Amino acid sequence: MKRIGLTQHLIGEQRLHNNIPAELRLLLEVVARACKTISHAVGKGALGDVLGSAHSENVQGEVQKKLDVLSNEILLEANEWGGHLAAMASEEMETIHPIPNRYPMGEYLLLFDPLDGSSNIDVNVSIGTIFSVLRAPDAMVAPTEQDFLQPGSRQVAAGYALYGPQTLLVLTTGHGVNCFTLDREMGSWVLTQRQMQIPEETKEFAINASNTRHWHPPVTRYVDELLAGSTGPRGKDFNMRWVASMVADVHRILNRGGIFMYPGDSRDPSMPGKLRLMYEANPMAFIVEQAGGAATDGRQRIMDIQPEKLHQRLPVFLGSAREVDLVTGYHAV
Ligand code: AHG
Ligand code: MN
Ligand code: MN
Repeated sequence: MKRIGLTQHLIGEQRLHNNIPAELRLLLEVVARACKTISHAVGKGALGDVLGSAHSENVQGEVQKKLDVLSNEILLEANEWGGHLAAMASEEMETIHPIPNRYPMGEYLLLFDPLDGSSNIDVNVSIGTIFSVLRAPDAMVAPTEQDFLQPGSRQVAAGYALYGPQTLLVLTTGHGVNCFTLDREMGSWVLTQRQMQIPEETKEFAINASNTRHWHPPVTRYVDELLAGSTGPRGKDFNMRWVASMVADVHRILNRGGIFMYPGDSRDPSMPGKLRLMYEANPMAFIVEQAGGAATDGRQRIMDIQPEKLHQRLPVFLGSAREVDLVTGYHAV
């Protein structure tokens, strides 16, 4: 089999679609390289002293794991000096991180969830990194948080790395979704799945069912119908999966179909959902739509939402389009 690496793929896509200028290619290569470094740290586990708590809290009030902090540092350091970025923003940082003055400023903005699935780190279950790329506004001099507050439809690229039995990189630049496998011996990303398409027919759903009693009626109705199986209105049995790493759940859905839900619920009225728009929902929505699926907050397309703040949370429904449309429809009645 002729092996196509990440760089060759990106250059090929630029020739076809004229959508990946050299600076964006550098950005994606640097992010992919940083993910390789994170993958290496993840793989070391206890031997690399990367497990356990960092004994600090992030802006969301979540206790940070060592690997949350380390992954954030790896991404920051890798992306600072190349001249391709104006600023970065992360789940683990309260405010934006402008590129230091000693380096040239580029025209892109990078957002990331450096380590997704933190609760799975210490138990050796799949975790990941999610990222989103926006263009900096034209007249921007010094980047501000406001510059990041662009709807997901303006993303120029998005992707995730999945640190599982294999390390994978799934990427879209707006012309479909492609998957690369890390060749650990060679240290290179090899194209292993082209133009991923989410199967339309599905018998699987993903939701944290321990929150059932807190759900709002449309979600209860939809999940009850799935649970009723072949004797209910859906006329077929459904299976349930919940990894608790969004990256792993979304990756399964890309390959096998299904719906992922993290709805808003009645636990804390100040929190409209758990997941974050800018560096979790938007990049995943871009990927899912590019693979033929759909992504909404129960009311509207996620990528149409005008963000109001960097760490904004929202309900998330994404995956096979028919299922997402159905549960979204239940919110309208
Ligand atoms: P993070 O580790 O970046 O904070 O994200 C965890 C998210 C997401 O990956 C996952 O789907 C969800 O939180 C799991 O939440 P529960 O533990 O409430 O199931
Ligand atoms: Mn996350
Ligand atoms: Mn995280």
